[in-house]
Amino acid sequence: MQLNALPPKRRHRPGGAALTPASGTVIITGGSSGLGRCTAAVFARHGWRVGLIARGEAGLAAAAAELRAAGAQAATAVADVAATPALRTAADAIVAELGLPDVWINCAGNGVYGRFIAVPEAQFDRVTAVTYGGTVNGCRVALALMTPRGYGTIVNVCSAMAFHGMPLMSSYAGAKAAVRGFAQALQAELRMERSRVRVCTVFPPAVNTPFFSHAVSHMGWPARPAPPVYQPEVVAAAIHLAAIRGRPEVVVSGTAAIFSLATRISPRLIAFAMTRLGFNGQLTLDPDAARLEQPTLFTPSAEASPVHGPFGRRARRRSLQVWLSRHRRRCVCAGVLAGVATAWATARLAFR
Ligand SMILES: NC(=O)c1ccc[n+]([C@@H]2O[C@H](COP(=O)([O-])OP(=O)(O)OC[C@H]3O[C@@H](n4cnc5c(N)ncnc54)[C@H](OP(=O)(O)O)[C@@H]3O)[C@@H](O)[C@H]2O)c1
Repeated sequence: MQLNALPPKRRHRPGGAALTPASGTVIITGGSSGLGRCTAAVFARHGWRVGLIARGEAGLAAAAAELRAAGAQAATAVADVAATPALRTAADAIVAELGLPDVWINCAGNGVYGRFIAVPEAQFDRVTAVTYGGTVNGCRVALALMTPRGYGTIVNVCSAMAFHGMPLMSSYAGAKAAVRGFAQALQAELRMERSRVRVCTVFPPAVNTPFFSHAVSHMGWPARPAPPVYQPEVVAAAIHLAAIRGRPEVVVSGTAAIFSLATRISPRLIAFAMTRLGFNGQLTLDPDAARLEQPTLFTPSAEASPVHGPFGRRARRRSLQVWLSRHRRRCVCAGVLAGVATAWATARLAFR
């Protein structure tokens, strides 16, 4: 019997935590580059079987070879996430090799930088079809595989931009806001059905991946992430944690958490900050970044893409917020102990 056909070892409370085993099978769309490739490596290190879906064969082969070299079982399948039948066929091929997915991660995405009126309609629509439609299609395929078995976790890699749109990224901002709303509706339906399938939306900050080289730029120069920028390892660890814990929404990094809070407390301040960011905050005049420009909106790259982009010099390698959520229990215990110790010391002083 296959390992992932066994009931997971984790405790289950009806309506409580997701049933995600300590290791099993994970399928990652967009697993051949950047965040998806980095996340695949994290799952492989934790003993998972990893299935990767993307369009480019070279990227898939390179990512899978890396996983196998690390001792993991890996399978790949080519599909464009914008088309459900192709995605379903790709998923079936991976399931035949690795078994049913315990976790499905929707990580494929792409973008166009430019003023709304400067972006051709076909490019705008394509960003929506891949970044939003691809997530919806991924959920459709994952649910079809997980529902009969009765459990599983779907992680949608969204963006902090879902909390507030940024200039020059209207198609992407709209798609990411839609991913959040769609997931909220789906989560409510699953709760109503008392389903043990979980949907989790992860909101990363700006990350140093090849995303900016893969995006189309109408600004004359390539796009760059708006600072502060994080290394993909920080976000990949948070995606892994989100899959294991199955919480509905996970904001990655203190920066994204503050951004999310600020959009609720003072939306006008955030709107002002977005205007100040302007064009220059999102483009680079770096000739090295320009050399790497290779838009993949309609066709994948013929070469493999790395995990990291060219913006690593100032990228953050750690996030206190991610560390705290990983060690939440220990932090709560330490806080309670510190509180008790302080109360005891205060009481002793008062009654001396
Ligand atoms: N980098 C950031 O700052 C940042 C911040 C927040 C959220 N995100 C999100 O993180 C996710 C991953 O992005 P990334 O930064 O890792 O970018 P990336 O390095 O460009 O990776 C994109 C991945 O998606 C795949 N892909 C693109 N279009 C596809 C399509 N139509 N069908 C199937 N696969 C497709 C690519 O492979 P092929 O081209 O071979 O298909 C690649 O594997 C995206 O959803 C992005 O929106 C990124």
